[in-house]
Amino acid sequence: MNDQDLGKRGLWGSKVAFIFAATGSAIGLGNIWRFPAKVSESGGAIFVLIYIIAVILIGFTVMLAELVIGRHSQKNPVGAFKHIKPKTSWKFVGYLGVLTGVLILSYYSVIAGWAIGYLLKTIRGTFRGGVTGEFTQQVFKEFSSDPLQVFLCFLVVIGITCIIVSKGIKSGIERWTKILMPFLFLLIVFLAVRALTLPGAGEGISFYLKPDFSKLSGSVVLLALGQAFFSLSLGMGMMITYGSYISKSDNLVSSAGWVCFSDSLVAFMAGLIIFPTLAFAGILGKASGESLAFEAFPLIISTIAGGYFFGIFFFALLLVAAITSTISALEVAVAFLVDERNWPRVKAAWLVGLCALVIGIPSALSTGGMQFFTKIRFLSKIDFVCANISPAVGAFFICIFIGYVWGVKNAIKEIHSGNPRFKLQPVWIFSLKFLSPIVIIFILYFIKTFT
Ligand code: PHE
Repeated sequence: MNDQDLGKRGLWGSKVAFIFAATGSAIGLGNIWRFPAKVSESGGAIFVLIYIIAVILIGFTVMLAELVIGRHSQKNPVGAFKHIKPKTSWKFVGYLGVLTGVLILSYYSVIAGWAIGYLLKTIRGTFRGGVTGEFTQQVFKEFSSDPLQVFLCFLVVIGITCIIVSKGIKSGIERWTKILMPFLFLLIVFLAVRALTLPGAGEGISFYLKPDFSKLSGSVVLLALGQAFFSLSLGMGMMITYGSYISKSDNLVSSAGWVCFSDSLVAFMAGLIIFPTLAFAGILGKASGESLAFEAFPLIISTIAGGYFFGIFFFALLLVAAITSTISALEVAVAFLVDERNWPRVKAAWLVGLCALVIGIPSALSTGGMQFFTKIRFLSKIDFVCANISPAVGAFFICIFIGYVWGVKNAIKEIHSGNPRFKLQPVWIFSLKFLSPIVIIFILYFIKTFT
């Protein structure tokens, strides 16, 4: 492929632009909605500890591996495997990624839609002045079980995502993430400071940060690893796709490091907001699962001076964070159709968006909208598969692919372009060839026992 072709395909404007877009993909509901929910379900601080270890040892390894494959091939996940190992079955790892991306888009957009609902509620003043934990629980129940509202919000999210993705890399994704992500970060810092100074915050903090080792179990490890993959958007070709737009002179190692660090920092701070707030309202341990964040945030917002405006600002930014993630989930499938099937970008974006909309209907109806889907907990089930199983399988094969098929030497050569002194090289190779695949295979093998 010559430079002209690359240019036509699009490249990030700079290294910083990539970091913003990749961080935009990584930071989202996974950090603010899913992370605290998993902490709460899995025994608190012990989960946080395992999560951090998983990000450092495995998340970073896989992230760098995906970026290497992406930048080397300058292609979508399916094309990348075809390019490096033509006429082999490796392309199916790419297909698995494309499929997972669409499935994630389908239910993730439903939850992003809740952020729209909550934005509107905040504007209408629902959470004005000293609300209680019971009240926010009730509001969530009413909202999430109204199929029409939930579906309309879901539709809006898919629509916005399709519009942005159809505009392409530079003018669509890059422009918006660069403007909006810093705002989200500042607001989260502010809310964390407020939460930490609430009366009774200490109980929340000790649940969140004081590990109880008796709660360590296989299922905690499984969920923490899954959360790391989900939150960093790994194992489904997302970072292969975004990596394919990175220029050859950029440093892949520091880029991967920045994305891992900022994503984990935001998740960590979301916990600093949620757990003290729940303790303050007396519902720590009583609220958990999908509704957790949506019950805790209105509470904290209602305790601050000027909370009305903070609330609006917060849910607007949560929506933005979610949309920078839905964009990336859609981009995987769109890049595939554009590169491999020569589809026009606009057609690809809207058609895949439509598929995700249809697939997402059961998720939209599974929080009370329809008894059948609620009963089988459809949303939790699809989330379990898309966050814990599929990315782990994808990440396993990515490690094996570089470690034993394409060869570590070739990968290192790619990394050296933009980073001639790759100091972490021995550690990365060890994790890629041995540690990560062994841990992942162990977890997948015992998955039945853990769940
Ligand atoms: N990483 C995103 C989040 O934490 C979720 C996501 C996963 C987005 C995979 C795209 C692809 O919210």
